[in-house]
Amino acid sequence: MKVVTVVGARPQFIKAAAVSRSIRKYNLENPVNQIEENIVHTGQHYDHNMSQVFFKELDIPNPNYNLGIGSGQHGEQTGRMLEAVEKVLENEKPDWLLVYGDTNSTLAGALAAAKMHIPVAHVEAGLRSYNRKMPEEINRVLTDHVSKLLLCPTTTAVENLRREGILSGVHQVGDVMFDCMLYYRSKLKEHTPLLKALRVELGYYVLATVHRAENTDSLDKLREIFEAFAEISEQMPVLVALHPRTRKYLQNYGIKVAAGVRLLEPVPYLQMVELECNARVIMTDSGGIQKEAFFVGTPCITLREETEWVETVDCGANILCGASSSRIMDAYKNIENINPDNEMVFKLYGNGKASDEIINLLVGI
Ligand code: UD1
Ligand code: UDP
Repeated sequence: MKVVTVVGARPQFIKAAAVSRSIRKYNLENPVNQIEENIVHTGQHYDHNMSQVFFKELDIPNPNYNLGIGSGQHGEQTGRMLEAVEKVLENEKPDWLLVYGDTNSTLAGALAAAKMHIPVAHVEAGLRSYNRKMPEEINRVLTDHVSKLLLCPTTTAVENLRREGILSGVHQVGDVMFDCMLYYRSKLKEHTPLLKALRVELGYYVLATVHRAENTDSLDKLREIFEAFAEISEQMPVLVALHPRTRKYLQNYGIKVAAGVRLLEPVPYLQMVELECNARVIMTDSGGIQKEAFFVGTPCITLREETEWVETVDCGANILCGASSSRIMDAYKNIENINPDNEMVFKLYGNGKASDEIINLLVGI
């Protein structure tokens, strides 16, 4: 059986790492019916620390195709990917097209395959923010509606699809990022050089990330978020693992970053996990990091008005504050009220074997 996997953005490399590892495991156990995986990297993310670093660190096979699309407006970027992926599919004629999440690379891969009648398997199907202003929401809704296999991480995701009339091909498999967290966290035996170099007290710093268009593309929102970081940094160091998009906007807007707010380059995954585990609180607008905060039991303050990962909020592990500095400060001052109930993680996000389950579904076991 042949699978073409389309990835392009940072969170997709992490998710694909788990599934690729399961494919290798399956191949070892099934020498006769092998799965051939061809990885296509669209080139949506291209900086070393947004892309190659993850392939190396997480043992992801080198991409068979590098499309080199790069950055651009939504239509331009997605259109160029669509054209290039179509050529790969013509060449490879796979049995399945595998896509992850909700980026422009996801939609381009899914659309190219669906038009060629190649079945699409969507990992992280069914998530909804119900905010159509987010490009991710458009990408995930459209991808789900052209997919044959809808691989849902949560019960909520299955229910969201049911409400849109999608009932067939829907499977709740668990969360592949949870697979990753369990696998790689066990490899963290001693502190990484980054944590040592940062010279922060364990359990006494804020870890932050900001990259969503709704925050970065608004001067007021980005300024409010960094105002809150500045105020907090008078009490506790704030480490911001800065997405290149946000670095660009901070510069363009001329936003002054307080001295106690430490801007880091994007960090490799294992170091990110370590920073997440040892933070007092995580402040983020990332989808993946909200979940990871819950997985590792660190309170999360989400810099958005809504989330696709509603379970984290329902469980008391996460609080939505938007980009309002006063709400962020209120949540920060009451961190003890944000209580991740770790027991719930396995109930909500699976048993760490979502990727194996996905492979079983692809081969039709
Ligand atoms: C994309 C996804 C978003 C996901 C995020 C993960 C879409 C619409 N958005 O957002 O859902 O949460 O990835 O990180 O697909 N840039 C660089 N170097 C890089 C990559 C990007 O400098 O390696 C800069 C460029 O200025 C670029 C900007 O970041 O214009 C935005 O990149 P883009 O891939 O369009 O969107 P993200 O914000 O990364
Ligand atoms: N991540 C990382 N280094 C960073 C920031 C994020 O390794 O500097 C990892 C993070 O641990 C998670 C994933 O990237 O596994 C989340 O990706 P991102 O926040 O870019 O996108 P989203 O999940 O919002 O789509």
